[in-house]
Amino acid sequence: MARMIVTDREGETFEVEGKVGLSIMETLRELENGVEALCGGMCSCCTCHAYIEPEWFAKLPQRQDDEEELLAEGESYRPESSRLTCQVEFTEALDGIRLTVAPEE
Ligand code: FES
Repeated sequence: MARMIVTDREGETFEVEGKVGLSIMETLRELENGVEALCGGMCSCCTCHAYIEPEWFAKLPQRQDDEEELLAEGESYRPESSRLTCQVEFTEALDGIRLTVAPEE
């Protein structure tokens, strides 16, 4: 079992089992106060935005240009921690990752 430590939109922090082999978004969108993921993972809506804690952010593959451009259009963008979670695969190596769901825009 691989876990994520999630702080949701209500500020609640809890542990959840992540879906290994799928994007982080697929786990977050099943939470009550998780992400909406309106585009279903097509990197075109920005509603799966989350802040990844620094030590984990550094372990993730880098953002592609389209992800970066979409994030940078939002007011809640933080260059050092923002990711579109539909663009990040959850793996066993990410067991224990800490992230916070970004505010709605
Ligand atoms: S689900 Fe739309 S950009 Fe990630």
